[in-house]
Amino acid sequence: MKREQLYSGKAKTIYATDDPDALISEFRNSLTAFNGEKKGEMEKKGYYNSQISKKLFEMLEEKGIRTHFIKMLSDIEMLVRKVEIIKIEVIVRNIAAGSITRKYPIEEGIVFESPVLVFDYKSDEFGDPMLNDDIALTLGLATREEIATIRKLALRINELLVPYLDERGILLPDFKLEFGRINGEIILADEISCDTCRFWDKETKRSMDKDVFRFDKGDISKAYEEVARRIVPEIFE
Ligand code: TMP
Ligand code: ASP
Repeated sequence: MKREQLYSGKAKTIYATDDPDALISEFRNSLTAFNGEKKGEMEKKGYYNSQISKKLFEMLEEKGIRTHFIKMLSDIEMLVRKVEIIKIEVIVRNIAAGSITRKYPIEEGIVFESPVLVFDYKSDEFGDPMLNDDIALTLGLATREEIATIRKLALRINELLVPYLDERGILLPDFKLEFGRINGEIILADEISCDTCRFWDKETKRSMDKDVFRFDKGDISKAYEEVARRIVPEIFE
């Protein structure tokens, strides 16, 4: 049963349950960008993102990646395992887009020879600055061993997501993952959705993700719905 609200982030609200080892992650319709500076709302955003996340978590679980996903309780409520979130945003980049093209002389659309991994400090207060291993260790965010595990898991998840999405006509320029600790193990947490990934149409390279909202690239509802149609067609039947 749903108990008290524990935390409300920019896109999801977390609730306690009767089970001390499980939480409810509720996907809301609110949209934010640029560390909350730009705000919006999209009908069904919570629905599409939770269904996309569910499907991708299930696919990854089938391939041997442990995630916090347990089951859906409603259209937008996901029952998840309670983990201790590691405050590192793990970004995997396959094709240059977004901040890497603004910070470095790297042209948008360049395909990286091998995935480029970036760690950011998950902190709204500090604006998610980039980390290196020494800073992550100094901040006590993770141990050296955990960092190595996170790197390996992120790259494996990328190897699984890229072909899965490609078969559905979607390119994955980059995405952000969060991991959590549970009983000495590191598992995938948070979400994998249009808010946390760049999804490009394979043919036209059109954005079908939060960049549509960030940079006013068109109809965000249509973009998220299109991704949901390709990844979770069963919810449209
Ligand atoms: P970036 O190019 O803006 O650094 O974003 C890299 C990836 O991380 C992109 O797929 C979007 C995702 N992302 C988040 O999930 N949360 C964030 O706060 C930011 C800035 C990016
Ligand atoms: N997640 C951040 C925000 O909500 C930034 C972004 O996704 O662009 O403000």
